Amino acid sequence: MKKLFTLIFAFFVMTPTMAAKMPMPADAPKSYESECASCHMAYPPGLLNEKSWQNVMNGLNKHFGTDASLDAKDQKEISAWLQKNAATKKKYDVLAPDNRITKTPWFIREHDEIKVDVWKRAGVKSPANCGACHTTAAEGVFSEKSISIPAK
Ligand code: HEC
Ligand code: HEC
Repeated sequence: MKKLFTLIFAFFVMTPTMAAKMPMPADAPKSYESECASCHMAYPPGLLNEKSWQNVMNGLNKHFGTDASLDAKDQKEISAWLQKNAATKKKYDVLAPDNRITKTPWFIREHDEIKVDVWKRAGVKSPANCGACHTTAAEGVFSEKSISIPAK
């Protein structure tokens, strides 16, 4: 009986932490790491829905104030892979305003307790810099256990 309680307890404790995982698929093309992770982290594809990735990839020549254009081969490969692995869970399957993960309703809701000055700390720089606080962001794990907000 005690074992059963432990099991039920473990289930309820672990469920919330299991919710925020968008694991980096094992079949990421090499070009994704080399072309899309030089200016920021390689965002796990599960953070945006299919249409949003399509929009990101169709606007690379005007990409958040920079030119991130690719040659035709990389463009096709990365685009197809991102869309194949895009968000499917209802919560994350939304059209991202301005093609930003950081402007989706779920992102804003999950981060509404963070004060404005925290986003501006030197150790954070931008909400798009997931890895500043989520120590396992590169693996697509965003659970509370792996959050550490830089003090400055
Ligand atoms: C030349 C630099 C550069 C390259 C290369 C680049 N990006 Fe970006 N990207 C940026 C900048 C700058 C931002 C805005 C970051 C910020 O607001 O802090 C950004 C933001 C983003 C965002 C939105 C982040 C948010 O706010 O939610 C996505 C998604 C994204 N990039 C995807 C990609 C993909 C996919 C590639 C590869 C095809 C790529 N980027 C390559 C510079 C780059
Ligand atoms: C300034 C630090 C910081 C940055 C930068 C940041 N986050 Fe967070 N994130 C948090 C905090 C704090 C929470 C809230 C944890 C809680 O209390 O539930 C959170 C929650 C989340 C959750 C929900 C976690 C859960 O267990 O339900 C997700 C998913 C998430 N963040 C993704 C991202 C992504 C993707 C980025 C980058 C585009 C990002 N975060 C950038 C601090 C940050």
